[in-house]
Amino acid sequence: MNIVLVAAIGENNVIGRNGQLPWRLKSDLQHFRAVTINKPVVMGRRTYLSIGKPLKDRTNIVLTSDLALPVPGGVLATSLDAALAFAKQDAKRRGTDEIMIIGGSDVFARTMPIASRLDITHVHAAPEGDVVFPAIDPAVWQEVSRIEHPAGPDDSAAFAVAAYLRR
Ligand SMILES: NC(=O)c1ccc[n+]([C@@H]2O[C@H](COP(=O)([O-])OP(=O)(O)OC[C@H]3O[C@@H](n4cnc5c(N)ncnc54)[C@H](OP(=O)(O)O)[C@@H]3O)[C@@H](O)[C@H]2O)c1
Repeated sequence: MNIVLVAAIGENNVIGRNGQLPWRLKSDLQHFRAVTINKPVVMGRRTYLSIGKPLKDRTNIVLTSDLALPVPGGVLATSLDAALAFAKQDAKRRGTDEIMIIGGSDVFARTMPIASRLDITHVHAAPEGDVVFPAIDPAVWQEVSRIEHPAGPDDSAAFAVAAYLRR
């Protein structure tokens, strides 16, 4: 089973501000959908609340201590181990070998050491923020692809989509 981190990060490693994304990138939301569709997605409570609803056609696994949190059609997990165990069974059931980790900060930091791939959108901007992505150590991670995208009409910045594999 492969653990894959999916994140959009600024040039200053910022990924969030005030519970939201610090940019508007419609083109990247399409990429996010494409890489996560029909797979289990694991996220922290604040990331879930920032999205505002369960992601369609994915198994939403939300980490929280609040067992009353409503996640229609999804599941709650009170520990990372429980979330990953559930995600593994769900991935097998769905016929995929990928568990997608979609944030936020602490969830990324704790899963990066056990991840096999990082799907990173490098946003060409350095906005103020209060949540950051952990450093991508080039001694550990090899960039295997990078596609540059100019800003589309509904994008606040240009960006590059890159994939990293563990060396
Ligand atoms: N740019 C991107 O790619 C990206 C991706 C994701 C998120 N974001 C941004 O990042 C921000 C949200 O991220 P965040 O780091 O603040 O919060 P987060 O990780 O989404 O949520 C934190 C909460 O998740 C629960 N949690 C996390 N780890 C847990 C564990 N091991 N066991 C049990 N519960 C656990 C806890 O919930 P309880 O307090 O309920 O116990 C914790 O308070 C937002 O601004 C969002 O827009 C950006």
